[in-house]
Amino acid sequence: MRETLAEDAAFIRRLFCLPHVRAFLNTPSRQIIVSTLDDPNAESYVIEDAGEPVGNFVMCTHGFLVDFQSLAVTKRGRGAGTFVLRWGLRRAFDELQAHRVFLEVREDNVGTRRLCERLGFSQEGVYRDGFRDERTGEFRNLVPYAMLERDYGPINSERATGLIFQ
Ligand SMILES: CC(C)(COP(=O)(O)OP(=O)(O)OC[C@H]1O[C@@H](n2cnc3c(N)ncnc32)[C@H](O)[C@@H]1OP(=O)(O)O)[C@@H](O)C(=O)NCCC(=O)NCCS
Repeated sequence: MRETLAEDAAFIRRLFCLPHVRAFLNTPSRQIIVSTLDDPNAESYVIEDAGEPVGNFVMCTHGFLVDFQSLAVTKRGRGAGTFVLRWGLRRAFDELQAHRVFLEVREDNVGTRRLCERLGFSQEGVYRDGFRDERTGEFRNLVPYAMLERDYGPINSERATGLIFQ
């Protein structure tokens, strides 16, 4: 994991145009990607594998709240998503002293929801038509998930440090 640079904007745009990412997320403009880097509350990271960028993770701190805003990887099912979410939880709870970490996932993003649930996030309801696909104009339900500090035990830290990202 390394901090995102302005030069990474082209990679991030390409990443969000990949079919498996585009299926669930809108593609951010270059301006949004770059303005995130200037936002003192936001942290944007590039996930690298053997020196090559393979993903992007953005989180935002609002006092005791940490919002995992977006996560996408070029190749799915290799453990990168699990690694990054555990890394983000460590960053939020162990370093930023967050009390609550939350994120929103489209209701039909079944794989990501399973991943969040496996890591210990709890579903907190459903936002009806909370997401609008900018390409088609269609609305989708969004599912909010959160983890509280008390839900995040030492087990998470131990598991995270033992993970090998390949
Ligand atoms: C969401 C996302 C980042 C998850 O990342 P990922 O790298 O695919 O996640 P993981 O590989 O850690 O876990 C996904 C699955 O792969 C499996 N897996 C983990 N490590 C693996 C490995 N080394 N080899 C094979 N499979 C593995 C996991 O068990 C999990 O299985 P499941 O589908 O049965 O739950 C990725 O799917 C993505 O970019 N999706 C598009 C964008 C998106 O939807 N973002 C979330 C919006 S909030």
